[in-house]
Amino acid sequence: LRRSAPWTSTYPSPSVSVQPSDERSSFAPSGSYETVSTASNAADAWTNPLRDPRDLRLPRIAGPCSIVIFGVTGDLSRKKLLPAIYDLANRGLLPPSFGLTGFARRDWTEDHFKDFVKENVQAHCRTPFKESTWKQLAAGIRFVQGTFDDPKAFERLSDTVAELDRDRGTRGNHAFYMSVPPRAFPQVSRQLADCGLAKSDKGAWRRVIIEKPFGHDLASAKELDRVVSEVFDPSSVFRIDHYLGKETVQNMLALRFANAMYEPIWNNNYVDHVQITMAEDIGVAGRAGYYDGIGAARDIIQNHLLQLMALTAMEEPVSFSAADLTAEKTKVLSAVRLPKDLAAHTARGQYAAGWQGSHEVVGYLDEKGINPASTTETYAAIRLDVDTRRWAGVPFYLRTGKRLGKRVTEIAVIFKRAPHLPFETTATKELGKNAIVIRVQPDEGVTMRFGAKVPGGTSMEVRDVSMDFGYGRSFTESSPEAYERLILDVLLGDPPLFPTTREVELSWQILDPIEEFWSTLGQPQPYRSGTWGPQEATEMLARDGHRWRMP
Ligand code: BG6
Repeated sequence: LRRSAPWTSTYPSPSVSVQPSDERSSFAPSGSYETVSTASNAADAWTNPLRDPRDLRLPRIAGPCSIVIFGVTGDLSRKKLLPAIYDLANRGLLPPSFGLTGFARRDWTEDHFKDFVKENVQAHCRTPFKESTWKQLAAGIRFVQGTFDDPKAFERLSDTVAELDRDRGTRGNHAFYMSVPPRAFPQVSRQLADCGLAKSDKGAWRRVIIEKPFGHDLASAKELDRVVSEVFDPSSVFRIDHYLGKETVQNMLALRFANAMYEPIWNNNYVDHVQITMAEDIGVAGRAGYYDGIGAARDIIQNHLLQLMALTAMEEPVSFSAADLTAEKTKVLSAVRLPKDLAAHTARGQYAAGWQGSHEVVGYLDEKGINPASTTETYAAIRLDVDTRRWAGVPFYLRTGKRLGKRVTEIAVIFKRAPHLPFETTATKELGKNAIVIRVQPDEGVTMRFGAKVPGGTSMEVRDVSMDFGYGRSFTESSPEAYERLILDVLLGDPPLFPTTREVELSWQILDPIEEFWSTLGQPQPYRSGTWGPQEATEMLARDGHRWRMP
């Protein structure tokens, strides 16, 4: 193996025996080396004692398997799943014995489906499009036409999967991706059970991947879980929270637990408060059917932001195995306390007409497919407290919104002021609070903000400055998309980056009382598109003596 320019890898040849890593192994960051993986050097890599021990890629090539996507013509599949599968193939991380089956209502031929996959891969893939990769992937692509209520369609699916086992050598290992609304989960699960596809069989595995939302409150999440676990073994169920697949989110674990300098100050002795922001500049963008009635808090806070909060606040896990990681996250979620006065410590908004960059845009109520009297919030902000020795007294502020000033996700840990400042008061009026900001996206990296002396002058004037680490500047490899990482983890049977049922339920337990309170309020406060949300949110922080950061 040698270090090479990114994306020069090819599929390992079918003759190479690459061991599938099918253990429920611990979380290990994927290899930072892009490798040339021709047949001979991939084979050498297993036997050659001179192989670079730093190369982490080979044990992470999936074993023979296939993936079936329900909802394959949907937005998520077109923009994220299909391109991610191609990118994995292009990086040499899929086995030669790989199959991809689309299940959809449309009356398409297999060739038509292949064209559809190719078109979407070409439009959205992260790595360069290569005919050689495409050809190999396309040879394992199948299409099954049918509806979820039709047992015959599932029989055809079963035949297709058996044919892949026989002709492509997928060896009975199949993952089923439910990129469909939750109301369809029970029906699809039962059909899979009825045609014998749900249970692992003779050493082969069956896994199910469930896209969020996992219900719309605690009761529905429990019901969903009951139905799915009737059919699939709990260890075969992978719930996707794609934020956990983002490199920068995983970098939180590196930042906190690979370094000595953050831990001593990561507590209520030094931290004043934490702001977790997930802002989008886009509107509801063709997803009216899903979004209206769900809203910002259920869409983002219940899953992505509570997971980010858990990773920020948790204690050091014993290891990065799924069990150890989830134990720590669960402790944080169990220790969350809601504010007593929800009116004072939560805020909701709904975008009105305004601007997205240089485009004039309509308000939420005028979007296509939205009920003109909708009370769904497109902005949500909440204060939570974590009742532990480490965090007592440190508020965590979570906010998210659509049509805000720009697309940015960040975790900002804001520190208390120095207990004493031996300067003239006028010299420090531009000194803010110190902060460590984990920039999840875009411009992934970490910023530290602290005071520095303004050069020149006669007085000791101190002003805020930033020190930056940027992924793009420090590493030559570009970060994989979250879905690449997560799909590969499912194929490897590697569960640490998937939230457990308990985490999902605790998150609903946190959100339900807030949703209940909001449901009594009527219309959310409007905010102009392109701004940073409703006045209510500014006031919510001002009450605690803070201000939202302007990312
Ligand atoms: C999804 C939400 O989970 O995340 C969408 O349902 C949102 O509403 C999307 O737009 C944002 O993902 P990302 O990776 O672009 O931040």
